[in-house]
Amino acid sequence: MKKLVSVLLSVAMVAVLLTGCGGAGGSASGAKKVGVSMPTKDLQRWNQDGANMEKELKAAGYEVDLQFAANDVQQQLSQVENMISNGCDVLVIAAIEGSSLGEALDMAKKANIPVIAYDRLIMNSDAVSYYATFDNYKVGTVQGQYVVDTLDLANAAGPFNIEFTAGDPGDNNAGFFFNGAYDVLKPYIESGKLNVVSGQKTFDEVATPTWGTDVAQSRAENILSSYYADGTNLDVWLCSNDSTALGVENALAANYNGTYPIITGQDCDIENTKNMIAGKQSMSVFKDTRTLASQVVKMVGQIIKGEKVDVNDEKTYDNGVKVVPSFLCEPVFADANNYKTILIDSGYYTEDQLK
Ligand code: BGC
Repeated sequence: MKKLVSVLLSVAMVAVLLTGCGGAGGSASGAKKVGVSMPTKDLQRWNQDGANMEKELKAAGYEVDLQFAANDVQQQLSQVENMISNGCDVLVIAAIEGSSLGEALDMAKKANIPVIAYDRLIMNSDAVSYYATFDNYKVGTVQGQYVVDTLDLANAAGPFNIEFTAGDPGDNNAGFFFNGAYDVLKPYIESGKLNVVSGQKTFDEVATPTWGTDVAQSRAENILSSYYADGTNLDVWLCSNDSTALGVENALAANYNGTYPIITGQDCDIENTKNMIAGKQSMSVFKDTRTLASQVVKMVGQIIKGEKVDVNDEKTYDNGVKVVPSFLCEPVFADANNYKTILIDSGYYTEDQLK
């Protein structure tokens, strides 16, 4: 009898080990397992994304392996490889660099593990099954339109002075944000109503590697000292997101004495929302991470149950190998006038968090 028990135990252990490697799927508890790979804990939004995903996936009955990769591509690669070796059934990845996950994705493909690209598209791989994000081009057009409306560009005589700060060239979203904003402003730049004083207006010239606040700040300091130190007034600094807007705001505080410019952002990070309330940032595009997390959890469920997966865009996101079926959530803009409704009444922040 003792022998039989020990044989049964070893068989069970081998079974656990086998399902635990090679992506056979499932977990010891029998629940399906979802690997969630986030780029970094440094930025508020990814912490929220990770926490929301974990909470919602667990509530839906899944086991979750959530990892953050400290903005280090190698670290993200090995974390994803571990998720695959540990037998996850679906992978959800917000890539640090869209093109650097090739080996891990090959592994996922071999193990038949579907991959959902989260917020940022994974490039040059046919292993990506779906993409869920906010409408990235629209994020940019909302920022551009805010500038058009606030300056009343259609009617005002101008000219107005403007500078641009875009995102990380390794992030496929960054080009969409910049192009969305630029396309709205382009007619006014071409007519001379908007004047880019530094002359820097291509994505490559205005990009911010790593989306770093410090990187954006030092470029802004250079521009301010080279082009605005003589008292030239700055009317707008179009920033693609909040981490870069913060860098520009820091640079302005120390290096600029003219009329305070319109500054755009994205994410409604706490620090930036406080700056909006204090008049140091004009707006931020709000992408409710709860909406994206719920959508992705729904897609995970549909994949696992073999149901048709909910997508609403099958033409925009070509990753170089295939057009990835996508679900695009709607971004909205927040500013000092509507932040209470959008951010506090919706339960995203408490009033205390913004003090
Ligand atoms: C996200 C933005 C974020 C930026 C920096 C982008 O991919 O869509 O919401 O601000 O990365 O982390």
